[in-house]
Amino acid sequence: MAIEIIGTGKAVPHKKVSNDDLAARIDTSDEWIRSHTGIGYRYIADESDACSNLACEAAKNALAMAAGYSGADSTQRDRAAVGIAETIDVIILATVTADYYGTPSTACIVQDRIGAHGAAAMDINAACTGFIYGLETAAGLLNISPHRKRALVIGAEVLSKVINWNDRATCVLFGDGAGAAVIEKTDADKTGLLMSLLFADGSGNESLVMRRGGTRNPFKKGEVIDAGICIEMNGQEVYNFAVKAITSTIDSLMKAGNIKIDDIDRIVPHQANARIVQAASKRLGIPLEKFYLNIEEYANTSSATIPIALDEMNRSGFLKKGDLILTVGFGGGLTYGGNIIYW
Ligand code: ACO
Repeated sequence: MAIEIIGTGKAVPHKKVSNDDLAARIDTSDEWIRSHTGIGYRYIADESDACSNLACEAAKNALAMAAGYSGADSTQRDRAAVGIAETIDVIILATVTADYYGTPSTACIVQDRIGAHGAAAMDINAACTGFIYGLETAAGLLNISPHRKRALVIGAEVLSKVINWNDRATCVLFGDGAGAAVIEKTDADKTGLLMSLLFADGSGNESLVMRRGGTRNPFKKGEVIDAGICIEMNGQEVYNFAVKAITSTIDSLMKAGNIKIDDIDRIVPHQANARIVQAASKRLGIPLEKFYLNIEEYANTSSATIPIALDEMNRSGFLKKGDLILTVGFGGGLTYGGNIIYW
């Protein structure tokens, strides 16, 4: 029995914002952002776009590919996606920027819009490790029931709406986007998702936090709201945690999966800062070329970075059948973990 990835998709908003665009509005520069993070651009959603808009687009692209259509014609894509959407049993949507706080889940909104009638649907919040957690959750739900065969796993974020655009220490880091994968239970052997390791260290919950709007600190009647809900981050603390999390997760995955460095074709890390990946590569003695980096183009899209990278690699032919891939992520919570995947 195997859990195979049979389709991938991504979606980003139309509006592309460069470091120079940001430097025209706040006290920063292309040179600082590139040298400290590796980021060159980010995509920013329109005012009218919410998480589900990007999630649906990414999902349709993944579904269409699973149905055999990978082209650019949107009518043909939609037709292909609708047919297979009916066969989806489970939708897991990882996000920290849901359409609504609490209920309904964004997964339920996506279920309705893509026509996955009858599929179970729920959101999970594991911040930037969300897609990794989502794959394992979906695989578990497929494995445990003979009646479930296919799942859709999505990582989708509209972080631009929870960023303090006056805080140069955070606003330059994030972007909007979504990535998705269709997974299927098959009788194949030693292929697809082989194993996941999921971890959390809740003692670091204050290092990356959106303080307002929840039951800990709700908006109050009569309160004058002079700032939206926004991400607050202790950059140095998260940086140190991230390097340790990537290093220990890759090490643990290699031990648990009995894998040597030479066996790995590609590592797909969460794209938060190129320097974090460079530091981890040095500590582990793994060549930087094994790590797939696209942060220059998209910045940090939290739960979407890994499925966006997988889709890019898949569609460009960068991934070959049988390639051994490790994903590795870390984020708010603090959460971290990784998957071992035979493509
Ligand atoms: N432009 C110009 N200068 C800046 C900017 C900016 N955008 N941001 C900060 N600075 C200044 C600071 O004010 C400071 O100036 P000072 O020395 O005069 O006080 C100087 O640059 C250095 O600031 P540091 O915060 O020490 O910069 P550092 O090298 O640590 O880089 C960064 C900051 C990029 C945030 C880094 O700490 C980091 O990447 N942390 C991890 C972030 C991360 O991974 N977050 C997400 C993980 S979880 C998730 O993805 C949701």
